Amino acid sequence: MFKFAKQLSKMKFIEAHNTDFRNEIIALYLESFSGGASKQYIDLEELNQYVDGFFSGGNVLIAIENNQLIGTLLYCPLKMDNLFPEMIQKNFNIEKCAYIAEIMVAEISRGQGIGTQLLQFFFETVDRKYFDDVFIRVWDKNTLALNLYKKTGFNSISSIHQTKRNPDKKGTFVMQKIYLHRKIV
Ligand SMILES: CC(C)(COP(=O)(O)OP(=O)(O)OC[C@H]1O[C@@H](n2cnc3c(N)ncnc32)[C@H](O)[C@@H]1OP(=O)(O)O)[C@@H](O)C(=O)NCCC(=O)NCCS
Repeated sequence: MFKFAKQLSKMKFIEAHNTDFRNEIIALYLESFSGGASKQYIDLEELNQYVDGFFSGGNVLIAIENNQLIGTLLYCPLKMDNLFPEMIQKNFNIEKCAYIAEIMVAEISRGQGIGTQLLQFFFETVDRKYFDDVFIRVWDKNTLALNLYKKTGFNSISSIHQTKRNPDKKGTFVMQKIYLHRKIV
């Protein structure tokens, strides 16, 4: 209990600007998604552009401890996600929807509440002038993340099939992804 409180006291949640921690975010992405059950081929150039897109057209929230990145939450307007299902288009004002594209915590720091606090920090800081609703897309087998989102007040509303490249670049595989929604206002 004491150890946990001590750790939290050194931790800061901030919004990153000017590509601060960009390389650390890329490393965290590779650590999170190039291994484990969701192993897939990741093109480094595409990943660099993808992360840069949040600095230029979205928002980058980070958790740091002793000036080291330990977690991040990347979000942008939902219209920047080119996969969202038609039912969202029909039922929500897309212009006022945000999309949490990534939430990642360094492997050694997981299970200490950082993912939960990144989501809380999102709801504390998101600009309510621009956004009424927020969506997250998650792999249906990622039960840890799914539980985290449900516990934070998100509800599943739709799903899609997403094609990914095999780690050896030969062929593809399909993942079922769930879209979850929570009201911001
Ligand atoms: C999903 C992820 C962001 C969660 O971050 P986190 O900091 O570990 O989350 P929290 O510590 O806030 O934990 C959330 C819940 O999961 C549980 N949990 C977290 N890590 C756990 C672990 N290793 N074993 C068992 N339970 C765990 C926590 O107990 C907590 O539940 P509780 O509040 O009911 O106790 C993190 O696991 C991660 O970065 N995963 C890889 C990237 C990823 O899959 N991102 C989501 C893509 S949509």
